[in-house]
Amino acid sequence: MNNAEIQELQAAAIQEVGAAPDAASLESARVKYLGRNGRVQDVLLALRQAPVEQKRELGRLANEFKTSVQAAVDARKDALQASASVASFDVTLPGRWHGLGTRHPVTQIIDRAVEIFGQLGFTVADGPDIETTFHNFDALNTPANHPSRDPKDTFYLDDTHLLRTHTSPVQIRVMQSRKPPVRIIAPGRCYRRDTTDATHSANFHQVEGLYVDRKVSLADLKGDLTYFARQMMGPDVKIRFRPHFFPFTEPSVEYDFSCHVCHGAGCRVCKHSGWIEISGAGMVDPHVFKAVGYDSSEVTGYAFGMGVERIAMILLGVPDIRMLYDNDVRFLGQF
Ligand code: PHE
Repeated sequence: MNNAEIQELQAAAIQEVGAAPDAASLESARVKYLGRNGRVQDVLLALRQAPVEQKRELGRLANEFKTSVQAAVDARKDALQASASVASFDVTLPGRWHGLGTRHPVTQIIDRAVEIFGQLGFTVADGPDIETTFHNFDALNTPANHPSRDPKDTFYLDDTHLLRTHTSPVQIRVMQSRKPPVRIIAPGRCYRRDTTDATHSANFHQVEGLYVDRKVSLADLKGDLTYFARQMMGPDVKIRFRPHFFPFTEPSVEYDFSCHVCHGAGCRVCKHSGWIEISGAGMVDPHVFKAVGYDSSEVTGYAFGMGVERIAMILLGVPDIRMLYDNDVRFLGQF
């Protein structure tokens, strides 16, 4: 074989390999050209028999023959495999489900509270998680010796900064920066040095409410909380006030919703009392108005707090607050 014949053979081989219709004919084309008894042997024979001065050039051609035909075989093999997998794609197979995320139950309750109070004209306010002792305690009429200020119960960062123990300091921030009337709710995280158990967590959420205007009364508070309770829990839920004490409200109450499961008859959810404790509320204390520069002879106001986890647990039937924070998507995805 001379040089030109080798190159012709190479072109024919590449052409034939490239046109192989399936894996079997590709393999026989490969054997025909590159196999132990294939045409490549003719090329190698020519190389062996060539005079010395031609060996260099023939060697180069023989090498090129082998590598280029092998490359054509590999390329054809890939192409055949690719089209085979398209052809065998079963369009009747069920699709793969990539799970959709869900909103966290705590977020769902907060979103719903924002929506319901929005219907009553409340807008959303917020404040920092790291608060000053002034906003968290002093301005809320909580004296220096009040037990809630004890470092056993409160996470202090230094003498004048802490992780807020409730969302009530947002009341102070809002009143400091706006003139009355104000009508806000403030959802957010709170922190207390509680030992964690089924109903306590060192980190939890509240929704604060504040309504200040001329002639706001306890009846307004009761009416608005009743509206909220019925929207959130069910249409015939009732509300009850029990006398209580908070430094920043006077009078102060704790309020309960009638049990949305047994409607007051007594069941496991309400621990057979017919009522479910939600949180505290009251009429804004004149000392608080004084601290923010409001004139308590001009305006009155009510304020309330509510525990978000508590509502989430009752409404969604979650028995242990820790389940809300384990971040187990099998649990969280149910809501
Ligand atoms: N801040 C109180 C608490 O955390 C709740 C509350 C808010 C009470 C507003 C009265 C008025 O328990």
